Amino acid sequence: MKTIVVFNQKGGVGKTSTVANLMAEMKRRNLRVLGVDLDAQANLTAFNGIVNPIKTVRDVLLNEIPLEQAVQSCKYGDILPADSALQAEQMRFATMPAFVIRLRTLLQPLADTYDVILIDCPPVVNQVTAAALVAADYVIIPAEAEYFSAVGVEMLANTINEVKPLNPNIKVLGVLLVKYQKRRTLTRALEEVLCSSTQKALGCGVFNTRIHFTVDIPASQASGLSVRDYRNGSKATEDYMTLCEEILKEI
Ligand SMILES: Nc1ncnc2c1ncn2[C@@H]1O[C@H](COP(=O)(O)OP(=O)(O)OP(=O)(O)O)[C@@H](O)[C@H]1O
Ligand SMILES: [Mg+2]
Repeated sequence: MKTIVVFNQKGGVGKTSTVANLMAEMKRRNLRVLGVDLDAQANLTAFNGIVNPIKTVRDVLLNEIPLEQAVQSCKYGDILPADSALQAEQMRFATMPAFVIRLRTLLQPLADTYDVILIDCPPVVNQVTAAALVAADYVIIPAEAEYFSAVGVEMLANTINEVKPLNPNIKVLGVLLVKYQKRRTLTRALEEVLCSSTQKALGCGVFNTRIHFTVDIPASQASGLSVRDYRNGSKATEDYMTLCEEILKEI
């Protein structure tokens, strides 16, 4: 079992889209996948067709129910759902002893049940994202090729370095360029800046695969489908397929 955390404190950079489409690609390869929604916005939960879940990751993290009780079986794999109630619990989490290692402890017994666990994080650094990074074997950082991403990489590196004493083997697989528009000169110039700041701050590269900008992504989400199921010929279908292969070679 490999645990991959998709993380960036910046909002709207394609974290949830990446988790959702990677789940679909991995499911197609007959891998047993669990998607964990750690975001009170619950976008991954809603995408998977789960509306008003009775049991969520919040109940699991608060130690109120066993994890299996909250997991739901969905089209693209199993989902541990979230809901907006997660938002109000940060203070409680902060006062729970050893909360930061809690998620890792909860996921460990699933080693024989799943091949891959994909964790979708909220766009903040909080107790829950720290717990995700402690549970991570690997981290993927989606980012847009823009100036603020290059600056943000350093902050991300600091956050990741903070959990290293608890998770010395954490490995950043790479920065994933999303909403990519090759013909924009600005994109190309910033791409170089981002590549060098990534190498410097995180000690890893940018994925060879870029996820191109296409309306097929938001449109597929509105239909509750992976981009492949929505439009097989979409550039993003090819991108997420290639990304999946790139990841599976690494892990
Ligand atoms: N490759 C793409 N091309 C065009 N639009 C995209 C692409 N990837 C994601 N989007 C759109 O960008 C918006 C943000 O994407 P998404 O929700 O995946 O980001 P996020 O990082 O999870 O956001 P948040 O930080 O709020 O959780 C969504 O409307 C999504 O449909
Ligand atoms: Mg999201």
